[in-house]
Amino acid sequence: MANKKIIVYYSFDGNTKFVAENIARIINADLLELKPVRDEIPRNFMKYFWGGRQVFMKRKPILLPLTLDPQDYDAVFIATPVWAFNYTPPIASFFEAVKLEKKRIGLICCSGGMKGKTFENMKEKLSGNEIIGELHLKEPLRSKEKSLEKIESWLKAIEI
Ligand SMILES: Cc1cc2nc3c(=O)[nH]c(=O)nc-3n(C[C@H](O)[C@H](O)[C@H](O)COP(=O)(O)O)c2cc1C
Repeated sequence: MANKKIIVYYSFDGNTKFVAENIARIINADLLELKPVRDEIPRNFMKYFWGGRQVFMKRKPILLPLTLDPQDYDAVFIATPVWAFNYTPPIASFFEAVKLEKKRIGLICCSGGMKGKTFENMKEKLSGNEIIGELHLKEPLRSKEKSLEKIESWLKAIEI
């Protein structure tokens, strides 16, 4: 089998982007960044309020058209920052737009330290798929080398 791989991700401050790009480079996967049409979250400390509010309100922002179709892939990695102990609203939009089934799924999240129910909530939306691994990194941009080591050993440990 061809075993095509894709990393679907959203990133606000670049941590998840860093992880997604490195995973794509290491395993030779395609990258699909989710981008809301409207940039509603302020780029200052108020981001916690507005971002958290979006999560609590279960908002699903409209995304720019997806440039790749995850249905064309065998393995799908989904990477998100943790917001309010959960996955981010653009990932909620993705789950609504794309119903994945019978895929091999890797879950990745970046947090400040507390991921809460991020993975549990993602898995709820992904029933009917096989979860091949979970990776939680804390502020990976603060220690890029250590993060790369963690990413590499995780990728070696899971069966992609
Ligand atoms: C709106 C908002 C809510 C957040 N909520 C949490 C949280 O519940 N738990 C946590 O550990 N970190 C939380 N964080 C921190 C981010 O998860 C962390 O900085 C992450 O690395 C950001 O990823 P990014 O750079 O890809 O956007 C929050 C950040 C924002 C902006």
